[in-house]
Amino acid sequence: MEQTRATITSVGHYLPDDRLTNHDLEKLVDTNDEWIRTRTGIIERRILKDPEKATSYMAANAANEALEFVGLTPDKIDVIIVATVTPDYIFPSTACLVQEAIGATNALAFDLSAACSGFIYALTTGASFVESGRYKNVLVIGADKMSSIIDYTDRATCILFGDGAGAVLLQPSNDGTGIIDSIHYSEGDTNCHLVQKGGGSRYPASLETVAKHMHFIKQDGKAVFKKATVGMADVSAEIMERNNLKAEDISWLVPHQANLRIIDATARRMSLGMDKVMINIERYGNTTGATIPLCLYDWKDQMRNGESIILTAFGGGFTWGAVYLTWGGKY
Ligand code: UT7
Repeated sequence: MEQTRATITSVGHYLPDDRLTNHDLEKLVDTNDEWIRTRTGIIERRILKDPEKATSYMAANAANEALEFVGLTPDKIDVIIVATVTPDYIFPSTACLVQEAIGATNALAFDLSAACSGFIYALTTGASFVESGRYKNVLVIGADKMSSIIDYTDRATCILFGDGAGAVLLQPSNDGTGIIDSIHYSEGDTNCHLVQKGGGSRYPASLETVAKHMHFIKQDGKAVFKKATVGMADVSAEIMERNNLKAEDISWLVPHQANLRIIDATARRMSLGMDKVMINIERYGNTTGATIPLCLYDWKDQMRNGESIILTAFGGGFTWGAVYLTWGGKY
């Protein structure tokens, strides 16, 4: 009998309707469509404009869609993990707010903070709950309202990010599909190359932190670019080697969508044609925790049961990693 694995059976998503295009950004900062397209691959992003709605709203919508697809009632959910860097509040967790919003009365719920690697960290964590045999229905959600921490006068960051959420349902499988291997790394970035400094216990929110724009994301793009390119390419090659996978064995690469050039470099290192790489950065930009589940959602009708898929991401922390799975979606 095959060992019990955690398999993704369903995917849900939420994207706000409002679009922020490169041409809109030209009116806000000294930038241009040509620069943004060629340096990042982004054309537009979605923005959750309603000030009454935050990350938990998008996460709950994505979760509900994933549950509806498989006809699972919320009371059957055992665990909810939300990967986010833009929680509604510092506490309580966004996962607890989602638990209440969707009526998952029997679920334990917590947030996981690993920036742009949050979703794959959460997926490995969620899979462990299922593999342990103690939990059967685990919701793993990546959701971020990045527009809430963006300085729209800083051209180095405001062109990159967008809002969105994606959710997957993990369930036990004995048919060989599911999460087979994960490799994760972290390296404390004490020099704060990618950081939101204000509002935590180091720099509690004050008039001064706000005046200094410390409640916004700050990034040394060049430094992060170099580390991300090496990190995602190396860990993807490592997980292929560890599982004796050749390029022809892999049906899909699902990379974090931070920059098309980083995605290109990762695919090249894996000797994969771009037709096997899921890319939607041009439409959504970098939605941090949501990029990978949003790709899975967009490609769900093209993936076939049992196909080999590698997910990979790099983000603040620093954090990075790769997950190898075979598709078990009931599409
Ligand atoms: O998801 C988490 C991980 N994050 C990432 O992976 C992001 C990694 N970094 C990047 O994707 C890239 O570094 C950026 C897209 C952020 C920047 O691209 P780059 O090719 O590294 O550009 P750069 O920062 O080296 O800047 C090149 C030039 C500079 O001008 P000079 O000094 O050459 O005259 C910048 O001032 O481009 C200028 N520049 C811009 N020009 C127009 C920087 N931002 C902009 C802009 N519009 N928005």
